[in-house]
Amino acid sequence: MGFGVLGVFLGLLLEVSTHGPHAVPRTSWRHQDLDLMEFSEPGIFNYSTLLLSEKKDALYVGAREAIFELSKKNVTVRNNKVQWTVAENPMTMCMLKGKSKERDCLNYIRVLQVVDD
Ligand SMILES: *[C@@H]1O[C@H](CO)[C@@H](O)[C@H](O)[C@H]1NC(C)=O
Ligand SMILES: *[C@@H]1O[C@H](CO)[C@@H](O)[C@H](O)[C@H]1NC(C)=O
Repeated sequence: MGFGVLGVFLGLLLEVSTHGPHAVPRTSWRHQDLDLMEFSEPGIFNYSTLLLSEKKDALYVGAREAIFELSKKNVTVRNNKVQWTVAENPMTMCMLKGKSKERDCLNYIRVLQVVDD
């Protein structure tokens, strides 16, 4: 009986440690099992920010030096693009501080927020 209680206790411990509040639920699929739609543009990197529009058929994507408006229904369709490059003066100032022109002195879109229409 002692072993039975210990067994249940250990079982509970294992249950809590593997599925406890710190466990992160994850699901994974293999690429070939899905019909994925992809978007990217040559020369554009660091697609890091997404904003889904409630009103419009739009998914906004912030990348390095660019913001895209994609179709929510088909993200391969690009409806708009805003290039946001660093002006010559701030670029020179950044490089004078010893920073990399190709890495540190570029605009990385980190936040996208709806302000109005
Ligand atoms: C941006 O993308 C480049 C090329 O994929 C990568 O090497 C770099 O680490 C990325 N930088 C940041 C800040 O995410
Ligand atoms: C998405 O748009 C592309 C380009 O217009 C088109 O070729 C493709 O069939 C569309 N895919 C879907 C699932 O609608």
